[in-house]
Amino acid sequence: MQFRLGLIGHPIQHSLSPWIHNQFLEKSGLTGTYSLIEITPEDSFTRELEKLKSSGLHGFNVTVPYKQKIIPYLDQLEWKAEVTGAVNTVVNQNGKWVGYNTDGTGYVRGLKEQHPSVFEDTACKVLIIGAGGAARGVYQALIAEGLSNIDIANRTTVSAEAIAQKGSDGVQTNVLGLQEAEEVLGHYNLIIQTTAVGMKPNTEEQIISLEQLNEGSIVSDIIYQPLTTKFLQTARRKGAHVHYGHTMLLYQAQYAFQLWTSYNIPIGDLKQQLKTLLEGR
Ligand code: ATR
Repeated sequence: MQFRLGLIGHPIQHSLSPWIHNQFLEKSGLTGTYSLIEITPEDSFTRELEKLKSSGLHGFNVTVPYKQKIIPYLDQLEWKAEVTGAVNTVVNQNGKWVGYNTDGTGYVRGLKEQHPSVFEDTACKVLIIGAGGAARGVYQALIAEGLSNIDIANRTTVSAEAIAQKGSDGVQTNVLGLQEAEEVLGHYNLIIQTTAVGMKPNTEEQIISLEQLNEGSIVSDIIYQPLTTKFLQTARRKGAHVHYGHTMLLYQAQYAFQLWTSYNIPIGDLKQQLKTLLEGR
């Protein structure tokens, strides 16, 4: 069987997903293709999706700006996609399109591999910075892993409150403003930065000061361009363990590939290879 996979979004010419999925195809011994299917704002989204449906692709990823726009075109939504309100992976199940969101689970898979201790103590105190789609996915995935102290800090606190309302019984979530988060940063064992602040070309930006950060805490940034954001540089200088953004990229892809093919490919040296690739950009 020939797996026909792809990515829709705009702009996607520089996407790393073809590189990652071609590595997975090679490692699995499966044959297939992963194509870039650019849909520009000038195209009719409905017409392009009709074409895609009749092409019989086995599955595809969805990226900016279509993660929400795709939803009405799907036959079914898995709960994580439903709760995050965003789809990054579509699986063609006998002609029916099922939407998933693999970002949160991907994030947790990557973190668990590098820092298993986080998940051994469910009382671990977590702070998520940001309240967009990525924050929603990460919040739900951490809850699914049994963590029960997860606060959310955001510039606009109402967005953080909306995420907290979708928490679970037994999960304690306080909502904070950014300045408040700076002041109480020492309370947290794990801090996860999910906004785009600090991303290329604005590499001098840092979402909050890390002045109060505890040495030995884990600081994570989901940005991978640059790989070492100013946020992570500062965290490292303060003696924190840093967790890089490219791991989420890799593990969300691993989970998507598993949904399409049933193959769960070990990441192995791909993490280092992707790091090197990104450092060279
Ligand atoms: P995604 O879906 O990729 O997570 P998003 O939905 O656009 O992205 O969310 C962006 C997040 O980055 C939000 O938390 C946003 O804060 P607001 O809710 O207050 O808009 C945050 N963000 C973006 N630019 C920011 C900035 N300059 N300062 C502080 N927060 C910022």
